[in-house]
Amino acid sequence: MTTWHPSLYTHWYAVAQASCVNAQPVALTVLDTHIALARLGPDRWMALEDRCPHRHAPLSAGCSTEGRLACPYHGWAFGPDGRLEHVPGLPPGATLPEVRVRAFPVQERDGFLWLRPSAEGLEAPSELVRGLEATTRRFQWQTVWHAHVIDAMENFLDPMHTHFVHAGLVRRDAGRVRARASFQGTDEGFTVDYEGLPAQSGLLYRLFESRRVRERARFAAPGSAQLEYGYANGSRILIDLHFTPRDATSTQVFVALHVEGRWAPAWAVRLFAWPFLKRVNDQDVHMLKLQANNLARFGPRGAASTSLDVVRAPLERFWREGQLPEPTATRTVEMMI
Ligand code: FES
Ligand SMILES: [Fe+2]
Repeated sequence: MTTWHPSLYTHWYAVAQASCVNAQPVALTVLDTHIALARLGPDRWMALEDRCPHRHAPLSAGCSTEGRLACPYHGWAFGPDGRLEHVPGLPPGATLPEVRVRAFPVQERDGFLWLRPSAEGLEAPSELVRGLEATTRRFQWQTVWHAHVIDAMENFLDPMHTHFVHAGLVRRDAGRVRARASFQGTDEGFTVDYEGLPAQSGLLYRLFESRRVRERARFAAPGSAQLEYGYANGSRILIDLHFTPRDATSTQVFVALHVEGRWAPAWAVRLFAWPFLKRVNDQDVHMLKLQANNLARFGPRGAASTSLDVVRAPLERFWREGQLPEPTATRTVEMMI
């Protein structure tokens, strides 16, 4: 089991698509913490440590009824605060033992359920999620990447692999142009703005996009990463990936696609854009698996980097030390993208 920095537990993590969680609990793992999550009502959920204090059966194999989660083994039932509320078989009037399971706060934002693995901590998920308009959401999806969360987030936020891993689809090595990346610290993480990229050299761009006036990568602690594309006609496309480490080798990825100000009904996105995005995902998953396997073969090593590796150091610092860049930190890097 990995030791995670204590401050990581005070943040909110995406753990499920809200529409996929019902009275039947689901088992999930966040930062090596095993949790049973169930729906109690239209906007009510309960999340308890996935271990019954009686004989340690998994509560996620039980069921939720009447606002309680009941263990599948002998039926002990727990309230949303984790307190034992019912023991089947005790005679009327008998006192219940003072027993409690760890309970975790849960809330819904942008169609996902967010969980904080510590009783105390931040009030809500990041502004990046809170600022999104649900009506612009076209697509939601979830998957697992078999990679450490730092490697997973670097992959999504760093464009320099796209010419190779997604050759022809996103960018082509032969089609590079000179660009400038401007790094800026924020209250919640950082942004990287790319200037000088009016078009992308791959097929994806030529089929689905028009002239870009803005391209921004954003990180908001703990696990949210967003690519924002702004177009000359005022429209925007936002691709959000929320990364939730299960353990040191696997990371849940929750994806949302928002389209603002342009014609893109959900069915059209599914039919035309999704097969391309899925292919891009599969290519990344494949490369991350090769990388993870090799890390396992050789053991952890220091890594060589250049000025092009803009996002790695701040991601490392956050996940290893709980430190975000100073909001005033800025840096500009010239690169060929
Ligand atoms: S193990 Fe849960 S009620 Fe006995
Ligand atoms: Fe990629």
